[in-house]
Amino acid sequence: MAVKLKKTVVLVGMMGAGKTAVGRALAARLGVPFLDSDAEIVKAANMSISEIFERDGESFFRRKEAQVIERLLDEERGILSTGGGAYLAEGNREVISDKGVAVWLDADLDLLWSRVKHKDTRPLLRTANPLATLTEIYEARVPIYRRSDLSVKADAQFSIDDMAGRVIDVLRTRPDVL
Ligand code: S3P
Repeated sequence: MAVKLKKTVVLVGMMGAGKTAVGRALAARLGVPFLDSDAEIVKAANMSISEIFERDGESFFRRKEAQVIERLLDEERGILSTGGGAYLAEGNREVISDKGVAVWLDADLDLLWSRVKHKDTRPLLRTANPLATLTEIYEARVPIYRRSDLSVKADAQFSIDDMAGRVIDVLRTRPDVL
């Protein structure tokens, strides 16, 4: 089904929530472009996220992230997957609500941990106790993610395609988007 989106759908939520995988499936199902802020930052810097954090620091990464999100929202309509920290910055939330619609992929901590524990790609989890760090980050962020326009509960039993379908179901409640 090829649709004409009226606004870009911005997926937000914790690392491991499935923003990239679900975003890609969703874009394919709707026949719209898939955009990914982390991938754009990596492409522009020609470095991994971990290398950017190490070399230039998190605040540099956050500045790039804000610029990329604004640019992508201006450039074309599609499905935009953001990094887990993107929705925390007030400026990003404003740009997103101005030019898009925020959909929170709401996964619980057990599911997130099961997905991120074996991966070494998240610089924020390079601590002595990554589960404790993930828990802290989760608790601090959930109240902010909750401010999203829409949310979809993620669950271990749902496939990526199920999740894409669930996002489409909530988008159907928004004639200003779909
Ligand atoms: C981050 C999440 C990462 C990436 C960076 C910071 C965060 O993206 O942007 O490591 O602050 O939660 P994912 O959510 O895609 O893992």
